[in-house]
Amino acid sequence: MYGEPKKVCTWIIDEVNNAYAVDKQDWRDLMYLADEKRYEKDGFRRCGDSGLLLSKLSLGLWHNFGDTSSYGNMKKMCETAFDNGITHFDLANNYGPEPGSAEINFGKILKDDFMPYRDEMIISTKAGYDMWPGPYGNWGSRKYLIASLDQSLKRMGLDYVDIFYHHRPDPETPLEETMGALAQIVRSGKALYVGLSNYPGDLMKEASAILDSYHVPFIINQNRYNIFDRTIEKNGLKETCRILKKGIICFSPLAQGLLTGRYLNGIPEDSRISRDGRFLKESSLTDEVLSKIRALNDLAGRRGEELSRMALSWLLQDELITSVIIGASKPEQIIENLKAMESSKLTDIELAEIDAIVGTEE
Ligand SMILES: NC(=O)c1ccc[n+]([C@@H]2O[C@H](COP(=O)([O-])OP(=O)(O)OC[C@H]3O[C@@H](n4cnc5c(N)ncnc54)[C@H](OP(=O)(O)O)[C@@H]3O)[C@@H](O)[C@H]2O)c1
Repeated sequence: MYGEPKKVCTWIIDEVNNAYAVDKQDWRDLMYLADEKRYEKDGFRRCGDSGLLLSKLSLGLWHNFGDTSSYGNMKKMCETAFDNGITHFDLANNYGPEPGSAEINFGKILKDDFMPYRDEMIISTKAGYDMWPGPYGNWGSRKYLIASLDQSLKRMGLDYVDIFYHHRPDPETPLEETMGALAQIVRSGKALYVGLSNYPGDLMKEASAILDSYHVPFIINQNRYNIFDRTIEKNGLKETCRILKKGIICFSPLAQGLLTGRYLNGIPEDSRISRDGRFLKESSLTDEVLSKIRALNDLAGRRGEELSRMALSWLLQDELITSVIIGASKPEQIIENLKAMESSKLTDIELAEIDAIVGTEE
């Protein structure tokens, strides 16, 4: 009389109010559901002395999110990142190609997948490089920064970003004007925090004092930092961040793919050098660079890991680094790069060997 118990199901309501019963697998096929275990790892660090925690790895959308890339692949990369505890997604007005298209594509991914998770995400964008014709689409004027963020918000379909950066110093606009624009952006509610990118230590200190006088939550600096590029150790940025208790987020941690096994045996067809070549050119792969990559790869091999993993853990073991922004061309690279959070610490001997290979004393 009671028969078989009915299968437990979930109901969905479509746009014209039809209700359908679906089981969990069908549901997953219809819409993205984030992995329930995404916060199980110890994956966060405090950004300077602010209240904001950032995932140790962030995902950058500089490459492979423009109009020349597959939408399905970029959506899968964002899902893979978020499912594995990466909460921070880094954009800029000009990411593409075409400039602006990475924000448009990310806006679509947000709409398709992530709107229920918006409050679990940190989304950043920037302005500072050439974006539109004429004198108001570049550098650091108040006119450019405020108009650019309005455009970025429209492209992404957002009311606010979590972090808005000035992308690079402007030698001709008064620092007070650029910092005043950042202050107004925060007051208008269009960004929660501000950051500076590509500033050296002394200029960042000056900017920070102006932002403090406006009570603006300036919490983070975004600069290139990797085993090959030690600029922030030399230009005062790293030391000033330590003193002022500001966060550091590193970009191009794998030197755009050079600090991986990618180019050990030639230039693969699906690599950044072959497919893009705007910023990483074949001419970067000199014999000298290749011999350094080989020596670093040998060291990583002795540690029992991939070079990419060693290069990321070199950054992650530095406590001054809040987060490391990885780029990726496929979801599998994100999975591989997450393993760096579990790497054993590089010993002093290994660190010295890395320095000797890349020749840091010059
Ligand atoms: N503020 C600034 O001025 C600025 C400047 C540059 C970048 N950024 C930010 O930093 C982010 C990251 O920069 P980036 O893309 O240069 O970072 P990256 O991590 O140094 O390079 C990413 C590239 O390395 C290769 N790769 C990644 N993981 C790999 C793995 N496990 N094995 C083999 N190859 C791997 C992929 O290249 P293939 O395509 O060859 O597979 C990938 O596209 C950008 O998206 C952007 O958000 C900011």
